[in-house]
Parts: sequence; C-alpha cells; structure tokens
Amino acid sequence: MKYDFPVTKTTNPKAKPDPDTLRFGVDFTDHMFIMDYEEGKGWHDGRIVPYAPLSLDPAAVVFHYAQEMFEGLKAYKTKEGKVQLFRPDMNAKRTNRTNDRLCIPQIDETLYVEAIKALVHVDADWIPEKEGTSLYIRPFIIADEPFLGVRRSNHYKFIIILSPVGPYYVGGLTPTKIYVEDKYVRATDGGTGEAKCGGNYAASLKAQEEAHAKGYEQILWLDGVERKYVEEIGTSNAFFVIDNEVITAPLDGTILPGITRDSVIALLKKEGIQITERRLSIDEVAQAYKDGKFQEMFASGTAAVISPVGELCYKGEKMIINNGQIGAIAQKLYDTLYGIQTGAVVDTMGWTVEV
Ligand code: COI
Repeated sequence: MKYDFPVTKTTNPKAKPDPDTLRFGVDFTDHMFIMDYEEGKGWHDGRIVPYAPLSLDPAAVVFHYAQEMFEGLKAYKTKEGKVQLFRPDMNAKRTNRTNDRLCIPQIDETLYVEAIKALVHVDADWIPEKEGTSLYIRPFIIADEPFLGVRRSNHYKFIIILSPVGPYYVGGLTPTKIYVEDKYVRATDGGTGEAKCGGNYAASLKAQEEAHAKGYEQILWLDGVERKYVEEIGTSNAFFVIDNEVITAPLDGTILPGITRDSVIALLKKEGIQITERRLSIDEVAQAYKDGKFQEMFASGTAAVISPVGELCYKGEKMIINNGQIGAIAQKLYDTLYGIQTGAVVDTMGWTVEV
C-alpha cells in the first residue's frame, strides 16, 4: 500500500508562516487525515481532506469522559530535498499501547505509518527548513459516539494534523528553569502515566501554572507515592548527569516511554557513556549538587528535542546547573539527534524513514 487514500485538495491554500518567527503549535497546514471506526466495521474510510473544524455531537464520549489519545512526531527536509520521518513505527506501537489502556480499538501499524506519510507527502511544501524548525505531526484519536453512559465508545475518529514549528521553548537551546513539584502528582502505579492521553496533561496544568507564576518554565514531577523520586518533566523525559553517570527514571508504568528518551539511551550506549535507568531521589540530586557532582540536566522529547536545564528549584533551594549553560553531553546529543533527523548526520541507527 503506498498512499492509497483519496485526497480532496483545498481550493483555498493558506499563506505559509514566516520561518524566522515560527512558534510551537500555532500554525497548521492545508490538509488533515481522517479515518473512522465503527464497531463491527473496524477502521475505514481513511481520507485526506482540507484542514477544517470538526462537527461533533455535543454528547460525544470524548467531551465527557476524555476517551482519547494523541501522539507526536516530526518530519524534516534534508539538504538534498528528501522528506523524512523519525521512528514513526515507534509512535504506531505506542499508540496501540495507549489504545489498549484507554479501551480504544487497535490500529494496523502499517496503515498508521502510511497515513502519516501520505499526509506529509501532500503538505510537504509546508516543511520548514531553517535550523531548529520542523513539521510537527500530531496524530490523535477521539471517541465520537454520542452516549452519556460510562463505557467504551463504539465510534472513533483517527485524525492527523500537521504544524510547522520552531523550538518548543522560545529560547531554543537556552537552558530552562524547572520547579520540582512537591504538591501535585502526575501519575501513580496502575494509573495512566505511561499512556499518551490528554487527561494526563489536563491534570498537569494547575502545577504548571503555579510554577510559571514563580518564574519557572516547567515542572519536574516526583513519584506519586512518596514524592521522593524524580519522574519526568511536564512535556518530556528527564536526564541527570551526576558524577559522570547519566541517569533517567525507569519505565515502571508511571513514566511516558519517550521515543527521544529511547534514542538518547541508545546514542549514549553507542558512545560508551554510562547510562542508567534507575530510581533517583531528589535528595540524591540535592546532595550531588552540594558535593559539586551534579554536572548536567536535560529534557528529551519530540517537541523539546534535547532541552538543557540551567536551574532546578526544590523546596525553595535553587540548584544552578553547569553555571546555567548547556552541558557537553546535552549539546552532543542535540547535534547528533537533530543531525540524524535532518539528514546532516549519517543515520547509522536506521531510525529515519523516507516519505
Ligand atoms: C511531544 O513531545 O510530542 C509531546 O507530545 C509533548 C507535547 C505535550 C507538547
């Protein structure tokens, strides 16, 4: 199957945004992909249509019980003009794991990747080429059966939209300031922490707003039981470099299994840098800071790529990391990862997929 979806082209193409001032998630391309699901019929009628608002019944399950999921990945144009995706098969697999948790029907993973490729192919001239920019791809599924009883929906829509983006953080690679959240929690064992569903993010807004009001860009979540172990950052996974060991929280059910996280671990292993997936207490981080052994911290994510952290605040104590500068490991990872994604660095990992 290669791009075997009917395409209805827009008759009213939009002006493209200025690549020099692109922000994250503000502009959207001319087309979107939609596919429906009905019990008994399965997923059907995949199609590409002009980007437009949706018409949904106000009783649709998604509005009341939040049965939905989303994903994020990016498309890039290489210097030679080739369009490529980064590990889309991983998004397809993660979608099905999330779907399982949210009682959303499974999607054929080849069909999923083909749908992404087909849409990116149609809107390929929207891929920005300036350093630090990309075409963000947002696949999502909503339960659209009109029904107010609490049970799984019998109807769904799988939709993909595209957004030309600049860096998630306005400052790009300028290190961010992160607040260690010790009041609210994101996830607990047995919850939806490892699923990519909107509810996790809705529940995070209050903490994020309170951190913003204190002057911090993001929060670092602690575990939901003891509020002791570091878990993840608001929109990304978290990595710490302490005494030459790179540490990230293990995937124990409460952490989002980031595709960038997985790529960072693989790249570090390839470089022979010590990387450990283990529980790390915030007290151990604070002690390492006092001992002068807290060398680096960075976030990893599709939107965030690699974002260095320059300050961490825990219970009013500020830890200034690497003098507030990006560290050598974060810089190298950014250069390698973004280089592979954009075709500037040879992809020896087999991660890029041509559209
Ligand atoms: C991504 O990195 O793609 C995400 O999904 C994070 C998003 C919540 C901005």
